[in-house]
Amino acid sequence: MLILGIESSCDETAAAVVEDGRIIRSNQVASQAAEHNLYGGVVPEIASRRHIEAISAVVQAALDEAGITARDLEAVAVTFAPGLIGGLLVGVNFAKGLALAAQKPLVPVHHLRGHIAALYLTHPDLKPPFLCLVASGGHSHIIAVEDYTLFRVLGRTVDDAAGEAFDKVARTLGLGYPGGPAVAKAAQSGDPKAYRLPTPKLAGRYDVSFSGLKTAVLNLVNQAQMRGEEISISDMAASFQYRVTEILAEKLMLAARETGAKKVCIAGGVAANLALRQLLERDCERIGAALYLPQLSLCGDNAAMIGSAGYYEYLAGARAGLELNGLATLPIDDPTLAAGI
Ligand code: KG4
Ligand code: ZN
Repeated sequence: MLILGIESSCDETAAAVVEDGRIIRSNQVASQAAEHNLYGGVVPEIASRRHIEAISAVVQAALDEAGITARDLEAVAVTFAPGLIGGLLVGVNFAKGLALAAQKPLVPVHHLRGHIAALYLTHPDLKPPFLCLVASGGHSHIIAVEDYTLFRVLGRTVDDAAGEAFDKVARTLGLGYPGGPAVAKAAQSGDPKAYRLPTPKLAGRYDVSFSGLKTAVLNLVNQAQMRGEEISISDMAASFQYRVTEILAEKLMLAARETGAKKVCIAGGVAANLALRQLLERDCERIGAALYLPQLSLCGDNAAMIGSAGYYEYLAGARAGLELNGLATLPIDDPTLAAGI
């Protein structure tokens, strides 16, 4: 069963064809990151315009790469929430037009469910239930994945998302956008113990917070500037990365131990972070849980993950009509998702 996935919620225009939720037949991504880098972050207006320019060719390239036409598809799946509204509307409207023209069902996909589905593309044998940390530029959630379309949020960030913190710290250190890979690279030659950064104390058992950490970095950099001292960018990047990954790993392990999870997963852009991957490998071994990591090329935004999630949503009966709208925010466990939109 072939599903076309379409993704345009941030700064990647992407389309992919996925077979039975597990096999990538094609995967096309047009990234705008280089352009947004000029401004130090994603400019929503520019993102929308670039999506409009790219989407038609990207979808055609995905069909061509898979060696099929729209007629061969079972359904068209599209990210409709959450994300930048201008970008979402481009994908949603294109998907609607294609579904109508090709007489195919339209399947609405939640972006974070897509990130989790990247794990199904990497590990053909992985099945729910499992515990998953989803850490991206907009979200940091610890989620009990009870079934392919059944999710329970156990913890979340109370302020900034992990990726957002990487992006903001990268900006403070003059490392450019996207910040995650830049901070990780700078951290390679730094000392993670060089700067002592705070660990947040939070009421929610599995909640995380990164705003204080980000502010601590900013304060240290400003204080050093005022004193005319040099700050070591690599040491600061390493210290920050060390603390972020430690916070994420600690909360994820706590949730794993207390829920008795045997399978632990991570997903989203921050899942590409090698320090986090190594830390979790060690920690999961300690508690006797199996760790499943998404392949690096599927951590960031892509449409193969939307095609995979779309397959499971389609099997569960999720369908959208031509009234489908994009939504900037929507919880991953929103009840309307269970019935389709
Ligand atoms: O999932 P994603 O591609 O887009 C969203 O849905 O937000 O995540 C992007 C985020 C950015 O904040 C980026 O800085 C971060 O993931 N990221 C990383 C790494 N690669 C990307 N953060 C830490 N380490 C990385 N290697
Ligand atoms: Zn994403």
